[in-house]
Amino acid sequence: MATAFIPGLEGVVAAETTLSHVDGEAGNLIIAGEYVENLTGSRTFEQVCATLWKQDTVTLGRARLAAFELVPALGNALDAADGMDALRAAIAHLPGTASSVEVTAAMGVFAAVYSRRKRGLPLIAPDATLPHAHDLLRMMKGTDFNPKLADALDAYLVTVSDHGMNASTFTARVIASTGSDLVSAVTGALGALKGPLHGGAPGPVLDMLDAIGTPSNAVTWLDAEVQSGRRIMGMGHRIYKVRDPRAAVLERTVERLEKAGVSSGRLPMARAVERAAVEVLAKKYPSRSLAANVEFYTAVLLDTVGLERGMFTPMFAVGRVAGWCAHVDEQRKAARLIRPDSRYVGAMPSRTA
Ligand code: COA
Repeated sequence: MATAFIPGLEGVVAAETTLSHVDGEAGNLIIAGEYVENLTGSRTFEQVCATLWKQDTVTLGRARLAAFELVPALGNALDAADGMDALRAAIAHLPGTASSVEVTAAMGVFAAVYSRRKRGLPLIAPDATLPHAHDLLRMMKGTDFNPKLADALDAYLVTVSDHGMNASTFTARVIASTGSDLVSAVTGALGALKGPLHGGAPGPVLDMLDAIGTPSNAVTWLDAEVQSGRRIMGMGHRIYKVRDPRAAVLERTVERLEKAGVSSGRLPMARAVERAAVEVLAKKYPSRSLAANVEFYTAVLLDTVGLERGMFTPMFAVGRVAGWCAHVDEQRKAARLIRPDSRYVGAMPSRTA
């Protein structure tokens, strides 16, 4: 019955979706019916959630308050050393009946609470009247910040809100396809997102920029990495054969912050390292175009916004949960158990009568 064995399932179409479209050859990404370049700045995270969830409007404020009230009941879940472990444990506490609004609001609140606790700071309660990104930044940083930073965080959440059949979305859909609940699907998706080949790369991107130190070291440092068989974080993609369009969107968001007077000073270095990485990878893999992916400029943007590097992957989850919820709903409507096959390559036992 089983036919071809495709180890990473590349090219296998496992769902039909109206949520997002990734054209890896052309470097185009459509989310919620818009090219990603047109989406950021024109629609807020809540508006994108509404389109993805096929609702007229979405407000997350009241659900943020409810999630904050749950925090004491989470015990030490949000004290885990790793932010993704903390989110996974905290989200798993939600009841299986939780809605997309409740899960999405909780992801943001739990991430903000984790960040405050990690830094030993008192918690700040949500303000239900504020937009999601603005309130989350307020909960993490206090009231004293440039509102342009909240716009930049909103642009980030929108940019990563959905992305075709990526590994965490696939995980969520597999879980949903068994008839399980949204919280189980999102908890599983968090586990998939944590890995360095998926959402775990932006922290290491910043470590890499620090380790390289100056642009003139970039080629030598990167070449040594590649020669020793290590992957360059923030470079390459399973689907994109050209530069990830989200890298450009996030790079422009950093530029806009710089024009507004907010700079981490990292942009010139990041650009130099990107150029060097493209050169080094092209030499090593001449037949494969390996370019910057979303994680490269996520690192620069979230650092400029003032988030600590341990928050980068949790912030990815705060945005991507919008897509997970929408895909769970879509998968439920498709009503088909996802159950691929495996090829047995073990020894055949002999039958004893
Ligand atoms: N650094 C060094 N080598 C890389 C690389 C990178 N960033 N990305 C791919 N390669 C290599 C692979 O090891 C492979 O080499 P091999 O044929 O000798 O095994 C070759 O390039 C082709 O890889 P490809 O099939 O295009 O990649 P993939 O689909 O298996 O992996 C990623 C895609 C994203 C997992 C991979 O590019 C990667 O590990 N990137 C770094 C981590 C990262 O940024 N993750 C975030 C993704 S959004």
